[in-house]
Amino acid sequence: MRPALAVASECAPLIKTGGLADVVGALPGALATQGWALRTLIPGYRGVLEQMKGTEQVWSDPMLFGGPARLLAARHGSLDLLVLDAPHLYDRAGSPYLDVGGRDWPDNDTRFAALCWTAAVIAAQGVEGWRPELLHLHDWQAGFTPVYLEQMGAAQPCVMTIHNIAFHGLTAADRLAALALPEAGFTTDGFEYYGHISALKAGLTWAARITTVSPTYARELTMPEFGMGLDGVIRARSDALVGILNGIDAEVWNPATDPHIHHYASPRGKRANKRALTASFGLPEGDGPLCVVISRLSQQKGLDMLLEALPTLIACGGRLALLGSGDRRLENAWLEAADTHAEVAVRIGYDEELAHRMFAGGDAVLVPSRFEPCGLTQLYGLRYGTVPVVALTGGLADTVITANDAGLRAGCATGISYAPLTGDALGHALRHLCELHDDTSTWARLQRNAMRHPVDWTASAPQYAALFDSISRRV
Ligand code: ADP
Ligand code: GLC
Repeated sequence: MRPALAVASECAPLIKTGGLADVVGALPGALATQGWALRTLIPGYRGVLEQMKGTEQVWSDPMLFGGPARLLAARHGSLDLLVLDAPHLYDRAGSPYLDVGGRDWPDNDTRFAALCWTAAVIAAQGVEGWRPELLHLHDWQAGFTPVYLEQMGAAQPCVMTIHNIAFHGLTAADRLAALALPEAGFTTDGFEYYGHISALKAGLTWAARITTVSPTYARELTMPEFGMGLDGVIRARSDALVGILNGIDAEVWNPATDPHIHHYASPRGKRANKRALTASFGLPEGDGPLCVVISRLSQQKGLDMLLEALPTLIACGGRLALLGSGDRRLENAWLEAADTHAEVAVRIGYDEELAHRMFAGGDAVLVPSRFEPCGLTQLYGLRYGTVPVVALTGGLADTVITANDAGLRAGCATGISYAPLTGDALGHALRHLCELHDDTSTWARLQRNAMRHPVDWTASAPQYAALFDSISRRV
């Protein structure tokens, strides 16, 4: 087995705010079948340390970006973790990125620079004789790693994975010295971004290879509409870029064994889950499809467009259960929609177990995103026979075979995709959903196809391994 270090700000099941955590948590298992042994470096947030057992200190620094830090090695399930315990940076209430009031932590640049610095130290010096041959960096929080690696004179290659280019990790130019970054790097060809320092741009510029989480998003990233101001940087590195589709952890997300639901192996088994879900959300019974949404409430996810399309869904007999949190205005708009329509029920919050029950009990999962690098909820939908209705963008376009005439005739459709990405087009898609749902045999076919569609890492793990193999040297 060849050693690699993954660097990330989230890792399921220990700490999760979105799909990044799912992927970081699942990749080590997937890559273990391909000859790569990943250790995963994450920050020792308060909630993470509380879950650690049998840790062993493998490194320490009396003054890491303003305070003492130690590195703890630990196993959690099958994960091989290195946890950076630095109380001055991570021992606080709130989320990995936000305080309890929902504001970015003011020292986020330092918090994640420290993570990157530690990754570089591990690679340069090794810990207790262990040294990675390659580093796999996830999103901007890991972006400075290759810059520090170069400063330390270490030669291991880095793979930078973009999960979402909307977040750049920007900080003020006068933070160079505080972040121990080289002045020479503060140029247009380096990590300078319109007068600021960009952690993501550092990663994109310094890494040996760049990946993103679906082939379509890899193409979209080169375009101004999707590149969020970094499309030029991406175009300049297009030779180094590849899109590798995310998979899901097929053990955690398995309707036949999921501890949170009534187990099932065929769509018929969803009935008990649907009854339970309808009751727990206090929704009326009905013949139309029970739709579910499990999502961050942000501009990306397009749930304002779903609000526009709600009357259409309700008019054709649909019902909707939504679980989400985020943008306060959207939260309020959804609570209002639930007050207005008996067919709509909303839970504001984050609830992993309820998410499982919703995938099991829903007839359809709605993902009307404006952009979606990969998207995991449509994949969970497929696995649970919960027909996905998705905007035709990013990874959503790569994972759902739409039930148009051709798809239905060929008998391979797994869901519905729609374009353009407007409330109107979504309304049409929802009407189509209701029609398909009324047609019992077509619907049963869709559900069966969905459940058979491969969504685990079988196809993608070898692609990561081939990429790793192609750039790494034994150290
Ligand atoms: P993103 O990472 O952009 O939020 P993904 O679809 O890749 O989108 O992943 C979202 C992940 O977060 C899924 O595992 C989904 O089930 C989970 N999730 C999102 N919102 C909630 C919530 N409110 N409660 C529980 N799980 C949630
Ligand atoms: C990001 C993206 C999402 C993707 C996830 C995991 O959060 O928004 O589309 O599935 O990362 O790669």
